[in-house]
Amino acid sequence: LLVDASEASGRPISETMFGIFFEEINHAGAGGLWAELVSNRGFEAGGPNVPSNIDPWSIIGNESFLIVSTDRSSCFDRNKVALRMEVLCDSQGANSCPDDGVGIYNPGFWGMNIEKGKTYNVVLYVRSSGSINVSVSLAGSDGLQKLAAENIIASGSEVSNWTKFKFMLEAQGTNPNSRLQLTTTRKGLIWFDQVSVMPLDTYKGHGFRKDLVQMLEDLKPQILRFPGGCFVQGAQLRNAFRWKETIGPWEERPGHFADCWMYWTDDGLGYFEFLRLAEDLGTLPIWVFNSGISLNEQVDTSSVLPFVQEALDGLEFARGNPNSTWGSLRAAMGHPEPFDLRYVAVGNEDCGKKNYLGNYLKFYSAIKRAYPDIKIISNCDGSSQKLDHPADLFDFHFYADDPKNMFSMAHHFDHTSRSGPKAFVSEYAVTTGSLLAALGEAGFLIGLEKNSDVVEMANYAPLFANDNGRNSKFSAIVFNSTHLYGTPSYWMQCLFKESSGATIFNATLQTNSSTNQVEQLLASAISWKNSENENSYLRIKIVNFGTDVVNLKIVVDGLEPNSINLSESTKTVLTSNNPMDENSLNEPKKVIPNRIPLEKAGEGGEDV
Ligand code: AHR
Repeated sequence: LLVDASEASGRPISETMFGIFFEEINHAGAGGLWAELVSNRGFEAGGPNVPSNIDPWSIIGNESFLIVSTDRSSCFDRNKVALRMEVLCDSQGANSCPDDGVGIYNPGFWGMNIEKGKTYNVVLYVRSSGSINVSVSLAGSDGLQKLAAENIIASGSEVSNWTKFKFMLEAQGTNPNSRLQLTTTRKGLIWFDQVSVMPLDTYKGHGFRKDLVQMLEDLKPQILRFPGGCFVQGAQLRNAFRWKETIGPWEERPGHFADCWMYWTDDGLGYFEFLRLAEDLGTLPIWVFNSGISLNEQVDTSSVLPFVQEALDGLEFARGNPNSTWGSLRAAMGHPEPFDLRYVAVGNEDCGKKNYLGNYLKFYSAIKRAYPDIKIISNCDGSSQKLDHPADLFDFHFYADDPKNMFSMAHHFDHTSRSGPKAFVSEYAVTTGSLLAALGEAGFLIGLEKNSDVVEMANYAPLFANDNGRNSKFSAIVFNSTHLYGTPSYWMQCLFKESSGATIFNATLQTNSSTNQVEQLLASAISWKNSENENSYLRIKIVNFGTDVVNLKIVVDGLEPNSINLSESTKTVLTSNNPMDENSLNEPKKVIPNRIPLEKAGEGGEDV
């Protein structure tokens, strides 16, 4: 491998080259990154018509003790469904309630992880007819192990108007499969609504699960595309992500059924939270909004203006003056300074649909008029043919069932026009999740680095999967309520985390053995300066997609003599005994990178 590290061969890679794409899929947010422990906290998931299903809430006690149903009596106008509980048993007498009371419980998203010594913020809304008592507790999955409890209405009293209760519970025990219980021992009518339990300790106090965010920080992402994907489109427009429904106090958000992925989200993780997450991670947000098109419907271009206005309002919310109509809502949510929103994507995978181009042009001209600096991303692929419409970037998605097909995509952008808009590879993945999948993806990313004059940004998809609620078999990070692991694709991305803003050099593979061997190898060389210690680093990445071990001699030209400190150089290897190996909750570290000092590697050449 010949690396020409001279100044003349160096070319800058875009500062935003590699990032992440968060989509609400696989319970990535609801039951994942968003730390809310209560599932279906507003009782809306069963639909707006009552009586409705309250799943996964369940009843404590039998029908001789209580009757549970739903009605539309909530004090919140945008989510009217509330839980109604008619308690038939009493504190004493012939039909006395069980000692532990009767009521309802919520198991969270496949069990709440409650940890001893940790504090949980609890909020709920209660109303009653007649004197009642109510206890709120955290317990093991069978209700027997008591972890924390608070009698919010201890002695019988009436709460005739909706009343907010807010308090903290400190857990006295640990159980990863806990539940929240709302119980009473007194006869009466009680309504509950908007019940939330959040751990006090979240990332920057902003509501995100810390262990999951750490995995994101470790990737050093430069961009955060959000919130989807198909999640933005919806199978039906009425189920698409619409940002105005996801801001403001959480209790007032209607929530929606994500019909691409067939689950309910209460939208606690909304537009504001995504923008703030990007800011907290030090990345640039890329907002994907609905283009007036769902999987099954298309708004006519002549009627798309409300969608255009919605996008403009969203930009004002993110960037507008705190005194502006929408900017003032952002300020009221605790962020008077504008967010650094510079990129928007008009729709997701909508190109080719009859109304896309017409709709896109309406968005394009309105946004450019109001925000000339915003970069607009078209859904249409400009990698093989120049776009026939104005855009700052074009979207490119590629999923492969066979890792080989991903590996061979390394050359896809070699012939892309250098004069048109640049590419945003905003979704790519091999759909199997194995080491071989990651090797195919690594080859593709090396190709993107080499084509970084025309590829400006890229991110893998999907980012997260809750192991209990998957829509896709593959993702970068898998978790349950307590544990997580990075897939080989995650660890592969870590090897590219210094590439954004780095310099790429010519790296040429030569061999006197079979050409087949060269075809199975891809390599790139980059250098970057570490801002903390001011040292410059050279990283050579080599992917061996073949079955044979290859012994490589690496020659680096163009550096000042003795400028490489070999004794501090390291070699990081991502491999396993079987290319089909995957990680799992049982074996989270089966395929992880192994970093060793370079001098320990073989004499006279490096095995890859
Ligand atoms: O990553 C899953 C889905 O695949 C995305 O929502 C969509 O954009 C793509 O088709």
